[in-house]
This record gives sequence, C-alpha cells and structure tokens, in this order.
Amino acid sequence: MQGKRILLGITGGIAAYRACELSRDFIKQGAEVRAVMTKNACKFIAPLTLEVLTNHKVHTDIFDEEVPGEVLHIEIAKWADIALIAPATANIIGKIACGIADDLLSTIVMALPQKTPVAFAPAMNVEMWNNPIVQKNISFLESLGTYHFIQPQEGLLACGDVGKGKIADNEMIIAAVKTLANAVSDKL
Ligand SMILES: Cc1cc2nc3c(=O)[nH]c(=O)nc-3n(C[C@H](O)[C@H](O)[C@H](O)COP(=O)(O)O)c2cc1C
Repeated sequence: MQGKRILLGITGGIAAYRACELSRDFIKQGAEVRAVMTKNACKFIAPLTLEVLTNHKVHTDIFDEEVPGEVLHIEIAKWADIALIAPATANIIGKIACGIADDLLSTIVMALPQKTPVAFAPAMNVEMWNNPIVQKNISFLESLGTYHFIQPQEGLLACGDVGKGKIADNEMIIAAVKTLANAVSDKL
C-alpha cells in the first residue's frame, strides 16, 4: 500500500466506527488516507477522530474550501488512486447507481476518472440487503467494471436481526483494496 492515495468515504450506519480502524491500518501499511463523511455518518462518529487518525481535514460539505479557489470535489477526485466506501449504506449505493450527486461524497464519486476503482463495503439490515432494488443497484454497478463490492457477512446484525448484512472483516476489505490498487498500478 506504500504511497497509495485512498479516499475513504463513510456513510451513516453503525459500522462507521470501522472506518477508524481501516484508516489506521491503511496508514500503517504506508498509504495516505483522506476521509469524506456524509452528514449522516457524523451522527455515528465524529470527524475529529478521523482527522487525527488520517492527519487530514475531514470534509463533510461540498462547499467546504480547503484551498481558496480550488473546487474541493474535483481536487479530491483527481487526488485519489482508489475510493473505498466503508460502510456503504443502501442509500449511497442507490444514489451512485442512479448518478445522483447531491452531497460531497456522491459528487466526488461521480467526478472520479474512469480508471479509479471504487470499492464498497456494504453494511445494512438483512431486509435492506435482500431488497431487490438494492441488489439491482449492486448488479448494475458491478456490470460497469469500475465498481466493486466486498460482500457483507452473515451473522448477528447491530439491529438484533440475524442474516446477511454485517460489514466484511477489516482484513477482507484491506485485501480487496490492495488488489484493486495494485491492478491500477499494473495498468499504468
Ligand atoms: C441507528 C441507525 C442505524 C442505521 N444503520 C444503517 C446501516 O447499517 N445501513 C444502511 O444502509 N442504513 C442505515 N441506517 C439508515 C441510514 O442512516 C439512512 O438511510 C441515511 O439516509 C443514510 O445516509 P448516507 O448514505 O448519506 O450516510 C441507519 C439509521 C439509523 C438511525
């Protein structure tokens, strides 16, 4: 992961805390991480935690300005070698599948160059996961080639239900990101 630039998108689910562990693990392996959180993600964890872990400002708003005159979502989209959305809500998957760009994270994803892979680590209730709309959105995104899904696991979910929807283990997420990031480097 040495020198790899990872955009870590965090959306609004209980598994948002896992983004802290993931960012720490990526950085330990030599990557640079910039985190972008949805407004709903901020209900679950504080941007400050990720700011300290990543040593970068954590943006939540499309109108945040890092450098005066620079368009933030374009700058971050150009910067990233790979994007990982972990956890990925049903909502962000649906928005990206429909080309919706109504907040900072979804707009960055829309502005990424075609060569930049996007990995999703979905986490949601089993009924949400099994919803044919969610599954249709995932199949559609996978068919485009740039978007990759790290399958959630079966087990006891945060809401108390049992079934598929638990975010994948950190080791699986890190391995998938490494494979995708290296595949991009090999193509260059
Ligand atoms: C306590 C709580 C837990 C939630 N967990 C999840 C979740 O794990 N996965 C999911 O897709 N939505 C979950 N939601 C619903 C999302 O927060 C909601 O769909 C929201 O609009 C997502 O916004 P975002 O994708 O912009 O972050 C949860 C909501 C609450 C109140």
